[in-house]
Amino acid sequence: MPNDTATLLQNLPKLSDTLAELTEPELNDYAETVAKGITHIDNAQDLGQFRASVTGKKSALTNWSKQMGKLDAQQKKQVGGWLHAVRTRINEALSNRQTELETEALNAKLASETIDVTLPAKGQQKGQLHPVTMTARRMQQFFKQAGFNVATGPEVESDYYNFEALNIPAHHPARAMHDTFYFDAHYLLRTHTSPVQIRTMQAGKPPIRIICPGRVYRNDSDQTHSPMFHQLEGLMVTEKSTFAELKGLILAFLQAFFAKELEVRFRPSFFPFTEPSAEVDILSDSGKWLEVMGCGMVHPKVLQNCGIDPNEYTGFAFGMGIERFAMLYYGIEDLRLFFQNDVRFLRQFG
Ligand code: FA5
Ligand code: MG
Repeated sequence: MPNDTATLLQNLPKLSDTLAELTEPELNDYAETVAKGITHIDNAQDLGQFRASVTGKKSALTNWSKQMGKLDAQQKKQVGGWLHAVRTRINEALSNRQTELETEALNAKLASETIDVTLPAKGQQKGQLHPVTMTARRMQQFFKQAGFNVATGPEVESDYYNFEALNIPAHHPARAMHDTFYFDAHYLLRTHTSPVQIRTMQAGKPPIRIICPGRVYRNDSDQTHSPMFHQLEGLMVTEKSTFAELKGLILAFLQAFFAKELEVRFRPSFFPFTEPSAEVDILSDSGKWLEVMGCGMVHPKVLQNCGIDPNEYTGFAFGMGIERFAMLYYGIEDLRLFFQNDVRFLRQFG
């Protein structure tokens, strides 16, 4: 038992063990001292021990009560009343103190769990997607709804998939258009998403309808070129795909994406992997034509390279520059701003 509870017990008035020798004032004094002591006990465990000591089997009070039988009828009535008063007083003090301690414990627990809802907030920073990511997602959404599946391919690509299979043999002048980052004679950072066309056609049979969004790399940097940028490749191969269908799909896409009238131009162009080929330009707010994609009918040699009979199937393909769409959509004149990670710039697109 802790010292202070022991001290309380020691300091109780020393009364006679013999009931017959006790007086009412002595008993009242005893009860008051016990009750007062109880108010100093500061935890439930000590209170329980103290209760046992003053009211339990071995307590003075119980000892006196046991001697009641020895008294005569009149004394019994009188002393019995005194003892009853003592026990009542002590029980009342015990129960009051117990209630107080329980309340204190509850209050302490509540205080330790308090949340001050009036404190100023920590200034939660709400993040947002990068404008190029948002643009890529919106572009994909259209094609997914039009029945295209998303395909992917590696960014570290082999010369074969990036060039050879796309009808761009070594030393072909078209390779110069691609400012390629090479690892060695065989591996490079893909310069476009078109290698995914090859991988898809080799792996499956027509009909094929895929889009492939992803990062591509070229050693190139100015207002409209970045060394890392994103393309969205599209490929459709069926028994009767036509250039008219390609053009209709692209125009429908542009209308859905920009949701406004645009000046669009299909300009005849050249890609070794499509024939005929075109590039698509859009007139920007600043009055300049901006090239947004290349496209065309998949070259018969490419179909052959992938084990598809060009007499049975025709296909069209396109490769869109995602940053170019973001530039036009948000009215950004310099594409490099997208990659400088200046939050003052990036926060404007939330
Ligand atoms: C190609 O990459 C072809 N693979 C596209 C293609 C696919 C044609 C399927 C036919 C069939 P090109 O090099 O023009 O084409 O690039 C396509 C688009 O990517 C461009 O129109 C332009 O919008 C964007 N682009 C090209 N270079 C960069 C660059 N450095 N930074 C940002 N965007 C670029
Ligand atoms: Mg081009």
